[in-house]
Amino acid sequence: MVADPLLSSGEGATPLTIARVGVLGAGTMGAGIAQVAAEAGLAVLIHDPVVGAVERAQERIAGFIGRRVEKGQLTPAEGVAALGRLATATELENLASADLVIEAAPEDLELKRGAFRRLDAAAADRLVILASNTSSLSITRIAEATRRPQRVVGMHFFNPVPVMALVEVIAGPLTDPAVSSATADLARRMGKTPVMAADTPGFIVNRVARPFYLEALRIVGEGLAGVDEVDAAMRGVGFRVGPFELIDAIGADVNLAVTESVAAAFAGEARYRPHPLQRALVEAGRLGRKTGAGFYDYAADGSPGAPWAGLRTRRAVPGARVTADQIATQIVATVVNEAASAVEAGVATPDAIDTAMRLGTNYPLGPLAWGERVGLGAVVGTLDALHAAAPDSGYRVVPLLRRLAERGGSFFEPRP
Ligand SMILES: NC(=O)c1ccc[n+]([C@@H]2O[C@H](COP(=O)([O-])OP(=O)(O)OC[C@H]3O[C@@H](n4cnc5c(N)ncnc54)[C@H](O)[C@@H]3O)[C@@H](O)[C@H]2O)c1
Repeated sequence: MVADPLLSSGEGATPLTIARVGVLGAGTMGAGIAQVAAEAGLAVLIHDPVVGAVERAQERIAGFIGRRVEKGQLTPAEGVAALGRLATATELENLASADLVIEAAPEDLELKRGAFRRLDAAAADRLVILASNTSSLSITRIAEATRRPQRVVGMHFFNPVPVMALVEVIAGPLTDPAVSSATADLARRMGKTPVMAADTPGFIVNRVARPFYLEALRIVGEGLAGVDEVDAAMRGVGFRVGPFELIDAIGADVNLAVTESVAAAFAGEARYRPHPLQRALVEAGRLGRKTGAGFYDYAADGSPGAPWAGLRTRRAVPGARVTADQIATQIVATVVNEAASAVEAGVATPDAIDTAMRLGTNYPLGPLAWGERVGLGAVVGTLDALHAAAPDSGYRVVPLLRRLAERGGSFFEPRP
């Protein structure tokens, strides 16, 4: 029997040199990906079905590259060469001539499945790798739309692409390891740090970061502290921005959508449940910096003002308010617990999780290393106290974390 070259794996099945990259979708992410790929010396073919979208992306890329040249980050010749590597594809099918296509179309499963089906058909027997930049959809579900699930992979960049160093490489159960490693190599060539993650809800960053927001929202929602106090407490322990400042930067609508998508994938498990304050902000049209108001008001020049006076929170019983220390201790403990749950679920290695959180969210230290610095016993103590006070709120300590705390073990030592 002759093996189907699309389905076979191992040596010879993967083009080892990726020279041509296709980019589908020329929006925020697609434009950034195309720019970084062109600067890395790859030939880039971009397609977007919306009239004028590719032209707008090319203008934006030219602007960014122009500024990089002005700052001396690129020579004028390098800038011209990078722009010369960008070409437009009039049809989606043309992208199948690339060695790897990165899809950065809207976050809609059926839309992405349709695009992958067409790319797969157009590629016929060519050994093209089809990568998705999805933030929250299942790579496996996308791969199922093709005849080449072995060659479908997640390649999750972070916004803004030229600045953020992280790429999560997501392998589904059928993804050929040679395809994941070729994708990781490509990310390195683009100057990024790849981390390998399993195809699970939120992958690494969007999962482990959930409690950073949700615990902060709970503290404020219970009337235990103000949004500015929570942000100051987190900055006080080394975070560059606090959770509410970060939601305002990302957009309350985007933050809610990611929370809802992770919560839905975990079938409503308590610790992922969206907080009512997230919806309140979206319903009030206070989406953050982009609308001039979010958890904070912003002046016309973008400088932050006071927290929103209209935020409706519970009135805490006198004496129940928490200190900056307690705020940071609680939020860090919930993030450590989530990181431990990701290790336990086989999402990624402890090192990959810590690297992803440092590079993908600018945490000053990876959460697992942070937990060990604080002491895993102390982290477990904080979570047990929270759980005792609110048994249905998802503070249950992950078994791996409790075991390591009891034995004085480390996430970073081989487990027996
Ligand atoms: N923005 C972020 O912070 C971010 C970060 C990581 C991943 N992502 C993911 O990247 C993807 C793109 O997000 P974005 O922020 O660049 O969105 P965007 O809205 O800026 O860009 C989407 C682009 O897709 C085009 N498009 C519309 N219909 C299409 C179709 N049928 N086929 C192909 N392209 C189509 C649009 O014209 C637009 O240019 C999404 O899956 C998103 O979840 C976004």
